[in-house]
Amino acid sequence: MDVAGSGAAWPGDDGNPGTSAGKQEAKREMTTIEQPHSGLARPGPTTERHHRGPKAQSTIGATGVSAWFGSNKVLERVTLTMEPGKVTALIGPSGCGKSTFLRILNRMHELIPSAALSGTVELDGVDIYSPAVKVTDTRLHIGMVFQRPNPFPTMTIAQNVLAGLRLSGNKVANPDALVKESLERAGLWKETRNRLNEAGAALSGGQQQRLCIARALAVRPKVLLMDEPCSALDPISTGVIEETIRELSDEITIVIVTHNMQQAQRVSDNCALFLVDGEAQPGHIVEAGPTVQIFESPDDPRTADYVHGRFG
Ligand SMILES: Nc1ncnc2c1ncn2[C@@H]1O[C@H](COP(=O)(O)OP(=O)(O)OP(=O)(O)O)[C@@H](O)[C@H]1O
Ligand SMILES: [Mg+2]
Repeated sequence: MDVAGSGAAWPGDDGNPGTSAGKQEAKREMTTIEQPHSGLARPGPTTERHHRGPKAQSTIGATGVSAWFGSNKVLERVTLTMEPGKVTALIGPSGCGKSTFLRILNRMHELIPSAALSGTVELDGVDIYSPAVKVTDTRLHIGMVFQRPNPFPTMTIAQNVLAGLRLSGNKVANPDALVKESLERAGLWKETRNRLNEAGAALSGGQQQRLCIARALAVRPKVLLMDEPCSALDPISTGVIEETIRELSDEITIVIVTHNMQQAQRVSDNCALFLVDGEAQPGHIVEAGPTVQIFESPDDPRTADYVHGRFG
């Protein structure tokens, strides 16, 4: 299986895997592989993170994206712009297509044999589904972190950090420096600096998730997609990862799926609420905008109901 940030399979990847078939919902079967932050305080810089890379510049935009599994349409004309330097949270009840949408953003949806999609996804104005764009390049630019931490269990911590880059066939000029930088950016350097040759599996769950973030960062992606990255973690590990997300958002465009409304408020600048209108109906975006607006003065009453826990 071909996955995020490399041409190889991540262990534990559940196959979470679109295409621009034109704006008229021309469905294409895919059997082959191929504003300022909303008043929520950003955590101050920690002593651990020395790296300050270039400011985030990449915009990822979806236009009229619909998706199917076989004949089952699961997303209906989703249009959303995910801005540079911002964290965009995708929220909504189970089964409304958040993960499917996220996977469409880095061409993982097409890994599922029955999957199809229509619409366009552009990274900085370039259609990622264009035949001229290599899927491996797309996944280098658009990294992914999954719900369950999935380090390569037999590789060391350092090898795990470099795995995506090595598997993609890229040469690493100064591996030690890249390991350090990536672990620093992921907020894991202090805890691992003396354990770099221990197995990735020897880390706690929260540390393993930060190791997966470090692995994704080592390829220097422009966009980082995170599918419920804290749902398997304790509150302290969750807090550390949220701080990491906030800090990274200066450098990378981040899209995060979360079921946790407090988390969406803490980490995101913008929010998009997905809902389904009824059984077997496709998911769609009900409302998207600045997080503070979505939570405090949404336009749609369904948004107010959802964010205040009245359904879903
Ligand atoms: N591999 C698959 N094959 C067939 N149907 C699928 C597959 N993956 C997801 N679906 C269906 O697509 C719809 C959207 O699923 P998706 O996983 O995107 O939802 P979600 O919003 O991420 O849900 P959750 O919050 O539970 O993670 C659901 O009806 C689901 O059953
Ligand atoms: Mg999901």
